[in-house]
Amino acid sequence: MARQILVAGNWKMNGSRDSVKALVEGIKAGLGKVSKSAVTICPSYVFLADVQPMIAGTAIGLGAQNLSTEAAGAFTGEISSAMLKDFACQSVIVGHSERRSLYGEDDALVAKKYAVARAAGLTPILCVGETLEEREKGITEEVVARQLDAVIALEGVAALAEGVIAYEPVWAIGTGMTASPEQAQDVHAFIRGRIAERDAGIADKVQILYGGSVKGSNAAELFSKPDIDGGLIGGASLDAEDFLKICCAAS
Ligand code: PGA
Repeated sequence: MARQILVAGNWKMNGSRDSVKALVEGIKAGLGKVSKSAVTICPSYVFLADVQPMIAGTAIGLGAQNLSTEAAGAFTGEISSAMLKDFACQSVIVGHSERRSLYGEDDALVAKKYAVARAAGLTPILCVGETLEEREKGITEEVVARQLDAVIALEGVAALAEGVIAYEPVWAIGTGMTASPEQAQDVHAFIRGRIAERDAGIADKVQILYGGSVKGSNAAELFSKPDIDGGLIGGASLDAEDFLKICCAAS
């Protein structure tokens, strides 16, 4: 069975209450044209309560950008999985490269976040990807394998059936330097192959998104590759028209 294309918008730390409402209205207005892709948006925590009722009853899924590994208590500034569930989130991004590089999240912490999300019934969107330096050193596969294996080691391969993987080469994020469809496909195939070594059925089913400067103009070619099952979209998800173009790129 073919895997469904998923397009997830990662709004990062952007927007205001007004601009976020306008963005959601814009996406909703064009949603009728999106026939093949599932669509999810990941606003900042503070906008979840505004966005949730606006998309209730539509096909748009709601995700968060991060979560705490702790359940509750004295963890100033943190947000728990139960809080995300309370605001009707269905998914949550874990291990985005910005969290890894700017906030010191290592593989073990990311794996724990994956586990906590899954235990709460949230779909973790696990981000993996190499830096430019790592690509130039020829260790892309080694890095991606290490990031993936941390989750498998903690949770077992079966846990991947309940999540989504996003391959996001760090050098392509927000830089306008998209990985070529072939470069992305190579890494996606590597990831799927590594999962297949443990469980072919799960490897076949798991959605692997590509992220890093996806735009309306390059999405169709990326999504046409056999192991690319959609995209995690940053910059282009902040404009309803651009985002909808990407959502319509699945053929
Ligand atoms: P970008 O970001 O589309 O702006 O490159 C992607 C991401 O960080 O998820």
